[in-house]
Amino acid sequence: MEVWALGIGILLLDRCQLSDGIKWLALGMSSISINTEQICDELIGLNNRQKVLCKRNVEIMNSVTMGARTAIDECQYQFKNRRWNCSTVDPVSVFGNVLDQGTREAAFVHAISAAGVAHSVTRACSSGELEKCGCDRTINGKSPDGFTWSGCSDNIAYGNAFSKAFVDARERHRHKGGGRALMNLHNNEAGRRSVEKHMKVECKCHGVSGSCELKTCWRAMPTFREVGARLKEKFDGATEAIQERIGTRRQLVPVNKQFKPHTHEDLVYLVPSPDFCDPDPSIGSLGTRGRLCNSSSKAIDGCDLMCCGRGFKTRRKMVVERCMCKFHWCCYVKCKECRREVEEHYCL
Ligand SMILES: *[C@@H]1O[C@H](CO)[C@@H](O)[C@H](O)[C@H]1NC(C)=O
Ligand SMILES: *[C@@H]1O[C@H](CO)[C@@H](O)[C@H](O)[C@H]1NC(C)=O
Repeated sequence: MEVWALGIGILLLDRCQLSDGIKWLALGMSSISINTEQICDELIGLNNRQKVLCKRNVEIMNSVTMGARTAIDECQYQFKNRRWNCSTVDPVSVFGNVLDQGTREAAFVHAISAAGVAHSVTRACSSGELEKCGCDRTINGKSPDGFTWSGCSDNIAYGNAFSKAFVDARERHRHKGGGRALMNLHNNEAGRRSVEKHMKVECKCHGVSGSCELKTCWRAMPTFREVGARLKEKFDGATEAIQERIGTRRQLVPVNKQFKPHTHEDLVYLVPSPDFCDPDPSIGSLGTRGRLCNSSSKAIDGCDLMCCGRGFKTRRKMVVERCMCKFHWCCYVKCKECRREVEEHYCL
């Protein structure tokens, strides 16, 4: 984290070349607080359209920063057992060149980033601290199910609209009509839908001693962990697509015509991913040397696949844990400390 604190300086001053990543994600790597319009001009990673949006919505920008940060964290959580584990390579390009190609990894990062902004802005709206937006009050009154709507549902329509304006700005601006632009826009939208389509109803009971005589409910977003898990499933089942001209429009259609066409919630990609076995900065790969692997797993976290057949070395490690815990009446738990030797495997 200290490293990224230094990164703010770079973020403000360094105007060196950036890779083709999602440049505004750099916001999530800084701890800068955006509280004046002037700061918008100094932020690296925003295009002109995004700078205009920043100036018009200064109070929302810290939520965008927060959305970028939670998207990066969630990507790392969901990908921790994969060869490409969503590691950030520097505070400006964030993921390096991994987003240069239209791979599934790029698809996931676009979707989670757009979802992150939508989620974070919506949360800020509900908190009541913003002037531009608040709760969704259109859902109110008595429900046929016998409860009362609180009138303060999460305003995902606002969060999604802001995400669309801010996050999609870059694609509309840059590669007009290209397959990559279509892919990125599709995946951005899939990310936003992964929040919107899975809103749930949460309730609170009022009444004497917790009875539920009066129940008020509101529509609430899924947690961001749930959004991340859903998008990870979409990553696993992503559709390889190709740009086709249909009439005057271009659109993405599945490469394999036997497959059912992708929906608005599915992720699409244009090129197969590299294997990420060896370090190669030009494709954003750090390689898997030194990565922890699981010797009893046959999946991608298993040593065979993770280490790409290069083999692994094993280290024994002592771990100290709480054990033989006893419950004492009333009310505490007393444990002993146990030492246990564990084996850890690292890729060669
Ligand atoms: C992700 O991978 C990089 C290099 O491949 C490694 O240095 C880092 O520790 C990994 N992160 C996690 C959380 O495993
Ligand atoms: C290793 O993989 C096995 C089999 O998939 C699993 O049961 C176990 O929990 C994994 N161990 C760790 C430390 O993740």
